[in-house]
Amino acid sequence: MTTEFTLVVATSADGFIARHSGDSPASWASPEEQAHFFRLVGDACWSVMGRKTHEVADRPYRRRIIFSRQVTTPEWRRPTQVWVNPDHLRPEDLPALVNAVTPMTNPLILGGTLVHDWFHAHAAIARIELTVEPVSFGLGLPVFSGDGPTDPLTLFGRRGYGVAGDRILNQVGTRLITLEPAPAQPA
Ligand SMILES: NC(=O)c1ccc[n+]([C@@H]2O[C@H](COP(=O)([O-])OP(=O)(O)OC[C@H]3O[C@@H](n4cnc5c(N)ncnc54)[C@H](OP(=O)(O)O)[C@@H]3O)[C@@H](O)[C@H]2O)c1
Repeated sequence: MTTEFTLVVATSADGFIARHSGDSPASWASPEEQAHFFRLVGDACWSVMGRKTHEVADRPYRRRIIFSRQVTTPEWRRPTQVWVNPDHLRPEDLPALVNAVTPMTNPLILGGTLVHDWFHAHAAIARIELTVEPVSFGLGLPVFSGDGPTDPLTLFGRRGYGVAGDRILNQVGTRLITLEPAPAQPA
């Protein structure tokens, strides 16, 4: 059975995930986004993230797969945290790496930009939980490499993801949008 990865991402209204590397979403995202995020992470078997995202929110007891070119082969630096080099792997290799610790059933992709790029390039994003906060940064880290300020639905839409659900989380207008890869068109 194929493992389905869910991308969880919070953006500004102009499509950025952070104002700079090291900027924590906790400093600008709404309490409702944070509650949603921590519920998903608490329910997930494993989270996949880049080294910087790991370092910004180091949680020693979480189950994490951490992308870094500092390693050549998988390296368990803590009992539930393995560092891997994504140049040497595909998404379908990840379950076998971690199943002996905890089976990979509902993994999350937690960013940042290069991690999003990697999963998208491998067509391995099955679902997206996108939270859009009513703030604009003008500049910052994009969801995918190469994007400037862009409406988040546009940047996902141009990569083939369509809206499956959309609701407002609070009075300031934070939106929680679910997206999925659009079905292939018949030839
Ligand atoms: N708003 C959100 O939803 C959200 C989500 C995630 C992160 N963030 C924020 O974004 C910032 C971090 O994101 P970031 O994009 O700067 O960094 P990042 O993706 O967390 O980490 C980048 C590092 O991870 C490794 N890496 C990741 N993908 C790789 C790939 N495909 N190939 C090779 N190496 C890869 C490399 O580590 P080495 O340098 O060790 O080789 C790279 O330097 C933080 O401020 C964080 O809080 C926000």
